[in-house]
Amino acid sequence: MTRAGPTPGKQRPLGDGRRPEAGFSLRRVGVDDVDVILRLRTRLLRESGGHSAAALRRHRSAFGPWFERELRARRLWGWLAEDPNGRPVGSGLLWLQPRQPSPRFPQTRTPYILSMYTMPQARRRGVARAIVDRLVASARRCGYTRVELHATAAGVHVYTKLGFRPTDQMRLELTSPRRPERRLSRGGAPR
Ligand SMILES: CC(C)(COP(=O)(O)OP(=O)(O)OC[C@H]1O[C@@H](n2cnc3c(N)ncnc32)[C@H](O)[C@@H]1OP(=O)(O)O)[C@@H](O)C(=O)NCCC(=O)NCCS
Repeated sequence: MTRAGPTPGKQRPLGDGRRPEAGFSLRRVGVDDVDVILRLRTRLLRESGGHSAAALRRHRSAFGPWFERELRARRLWGWLAEDPNGRPVGSGLLWLQPRQPSPRFPQTRTPYILSMYTMPQARRRGVARAIVDRLVASARRCGYTRVELHATAAGVHVYTKLGFRPTDQMRLELTSPRRPERRLSRGGAPR
């Protein structure tokens, strides 16, 4: 049986003092971390490219409330990596994404990893690996049998080493209406 996210508890250090290496420590993300998560996420989106400043601004105001709601509902959780001075150097989140049941995968949510970002000065020192390890372990503990994500070119290396494999997903881009989120939130399915 699957259940919602791990018990949140207080924001407490989870690192064992040795991993990630080089003095970084990990702690669970809390609702008060929304600004830090948004900052790291914006850096990630800027580095991935293709987003205008206006689109990033709009995204921040949509992502913040979503983050808080999903975190409180325990459908979202994650870890922050910090340097010895408590400055954030990396993040990673896991969201229980809704899905339809299928014969192979009857569960109606798929643990989905997002917002994986490590600050440039902290890269290649095991930060992302340590966070993904924890996210995957937490999904397993909750009874899930699969974890999904979309990888950037840089991310592929990290995930492949941890056992992730490409899937057969396809996508058709539709010309988006001007305010898609408003239309969908009113009615859900089209008439
Ligand atoms: C991708 C990213 C999160 C990796 O973070 P990181 O903390 O440097 O990763 P780690 O140090 O934990 O690396 C884990 C493994 O992946 C490998 N790896 C990481 N970045 C790599 C790169 N750019 N090229 C090749 N291998 C890489 C490491 O070698 C390591 O394996 P090893 O320790 O056995 O050698 C970071 O580069 C980043 O934030 N990039 C920009 C944003 C982004 O693309 N995010 C991913 C979204 S899916």
